Amino acid sequence: MRVKAAVLHQSGGHKRPYKDSKPLQIEEIILEKPGKEEVIVQIKAAGLCHSDLSVIDGNRIRPMPMVLGHEASGIIVELGEDVKGFEVGDHVVFAFLPSCGHCDYCMSGRPALCDTGAKANNEGMLLNGDRKIKNENGEEYFHHLGVSGFAEYTVASVYSLVKIEKEYPFEVAALFGCAVMTGMGAVVHTAKLTAGESLLVVGLGGVGLSAVLGAKAAGASQIIAADVSDSKLVVAKEFGATDIINSGEECAMDKLKQRITRGGVDKSVEFAGAMAALDFAFNATKKGGVTVTGALPHPDARLSLNPLTLVGQEKSLKGCYLGSCVPAIDIPNFLALYRNGNLPVDKLITHRLKLEDINEGFDRLASGEAIRQVIVFD
Ligand SMILES: NC(=O)c1ccc[n+]([C@@H]2O[C@H](COP(=O)([O-])OP(=O)(O)OC[C@H]3O[C@@H](n4cnc5c(N)ncnc54)[C@H](O)[C@@H]3O)[C@@H](O)[C@H]2O)c1
Ligand SMILES: [Zn+2]
Ligand SMILES: [Zn+2]
Repeated sequence: MRVKAAVLHQSGGHKRPYKDSKPLQIEEIILEKPGKEEVIVQIKAAGLCHSDLSVIDGNRIRPMPMVLGHEASGIIVELGEDVKGFEVGDHVVFAFLPSCGHCDYCMSGRPALCDTGAKANNEGMLLNGDRKIKNENGEEYFHHLGVSGFAEYTVASVYSLVKIEKEYPFEVAALFGCAVMTGMGAVVHTAKLTAGESLLVVGLGGVGLSAVLGAKAAGASQIIAADVSDSKLVVAKEFGATDIINSGEECAMDKLKQRITRGGVDKSVEFAGAMAALDFAFNATKKGGVTVTGALPHPDARLSLNPLTLVGQEKSLKGCYLGSCVPAIDIPNFLALYRNGNLPVDKLITHRLKLEDINEGFDRLASGEAIRQVIVFD
């Protein structure tokens, strides 16, 4: 099957603006037939996430060439062998980490740590270790996190898919595959926020703002939103933050501890990707506080932390991948919160794009001008 896709041939080394250097090339690619427990999905919507940008700018090393995109929704159009639980016509959201179902982590209910899924993702393969994308010269391309959503169609393992009700708009549903699952999951699963607790969210992109909405839905007593961009702070207020703070300003920590709270927050989540942001999130928690980091900084980044604060103040620092979610359970549950009006994540969408405009989209994401931009396919 021949389809149009956005292909990255080189990670890093692209000058901005990307609209001129065009790191993503729109090409016709060839999709092979789906194999055992694989399907073809017609992509209907795909969001632009900072984790795609990190592959483009070289902060996250992946094998090349790769069809990018990992936050997507679509319709199943063809089944491979032995597919159970899915049919042609089903609407699906992609989880950006497939889960094998039988490694120790999957067996203990933590598919976000699936060994087989992580290996496949790191190698740019589908869950079974295969590749199903090539160009017209026969050169094989890599899959991005088992999704490769910046394409008209893709081949995916069924273990990357979550079936959803047909009532949801595709462009909203796509966000649940990454931004919403991660931001909401960080709050309710990793931080385990309970009603009445206070939360600080540092880094107000699509993921951080999903955490703001998640905290509101979970009944946080106070939601403090922090960023170094004042325009993001204004948006966070509209999303339900009770207080905002520019964490780049001098005295920001004093302001948070003395004026906004009485000595700090119960919990904090960080989705900025900068060490200064994580430092701010950790220092802002009070004794016994829990800090969750879900951003993906450069692999060489190192945190400087006084371990005594972990001991004497019983603070903790936790990592969060995939929102510590079980996608097959959490995505339908979080979607139901959206349907009930308790998780209005459609507000995250600032731009709708055509595939051809993807490089301009990444310029807007890099400059902080956009929150979630979604490529909408006809
Ligand atoms: N853990 C996961 O499973 C997972 C999933 C998706 C995304 N991510 C990561 O989460 C991060 C956020 O993704 P996004 O798409 O929302 O990104 P984004 O670019 O839309 O938002 C990042 C925000 O952080 C702010 N920021 C940058 N430096 C800061 C600093 N020093 N202090 C405070 N704020 C700062 C920016 O102004 C921006 O508003 C990225 O690192 C991404 O790779 C992780
Ligand atoms: Zn993402
Ligand atoms: Zn597994």
